[in-house]
Amino acid sequence: MKDTCNTNKEESCSITDKGCRTSNSTENLGEYWCGKYTDVDYKTLGWYEEESTPSIDIIVETKVAKNAVIFNVGAGSTTLIDSLLEKGYTNLIANDISSCALNNIKKRIGEKQKNVEFITDDLVKPTLLNDLQQVDIWNDRAVMHFFIDEKDQDNYFNLLNQKVKKNGFVILSEFNLEGATMCSGLPVKRYNTEMLQEKLGANYKLLKDFNHDYKMPNGEIRKYVYTLFQRIGL
Ligand SMILES: C[S@@+](CC[C@H](N)C(=O)[O-])C[C@H]1O[C@@H](n2cnc3c(N)ncnc32)[C@H](O)[C@@H]1O
Repeated sequence: MKDTCNTNKEESCSITDKGCRTSNSTENLGEYWCGKYTDVDYKTLGWYEEESTPSIDIIVETKVAKNAVIFNVGAGSTTLIDSLLEKGYTNLIANDISSCALNNIKKRIGEKQKNVEFITDDLVKPTLLNDLQQVDIWNDRAVMHFFIDEKDQDNYFNLLNQKVKKNGFVILSEFNLEGATMCSGLPVKRYNTEMLQEKLGANYKLLKDFNHDYKMPNGEIRKYVYTLFQRIGL
């Protein structure tokens, strides 16, 4: 891993119409993840998807309006943003602890950045994210499973509970119980649907869940559980 990467905040925030905000509190873990995205071509990373299915299909299935606020946590360099823009969604937020990761999205989507707000911040020690508006969809693929400390998990779900609107949707897609125990050099916690329901509590109703075998760019399989919940209570 490189010790440094291009975390120049001016550069990471200069070219978006919709907005770009970078918190100061993310630098150590942010640098770790930045190294992951800059040591190799990000398209070879073990979570990169050429097509962001099944996430895009689940979002379409919610039937939210095209101007619904869709919040992608730990978005990395995901092509899901590209796919959402192609489908006409106009109110996207992409968060990550690594500005390097988000910069890859910015480079790809060019002028469509007017429909995306980029926020570099830590989901478990949020600063900028505390001021975020409420959202219609909270989408997490392969992020929450890195939070192995209960305190971090509590912080994550506290933020989620503050930010998801009543009747809004939560999509959690994490390594399932047969999944890998490490990812990107870090230990992960594995989940099934019941564990995710327990984390969310009774205010969230499960609408859909399934296991999914994701084929990594190197051909290996990573086993995920995909879940869609709707917030039914406050
Ligand atoms: C395995 S990658 C998944 C990226 C993306 N969701 C995808 O599906 O391609 C995990 C992402 O979570 C981000 N991340 C890790 N810890 C984070 C935190 N505490 N707050 C925000 N993002 C975080 C990493 O920088 C990385 O981009």
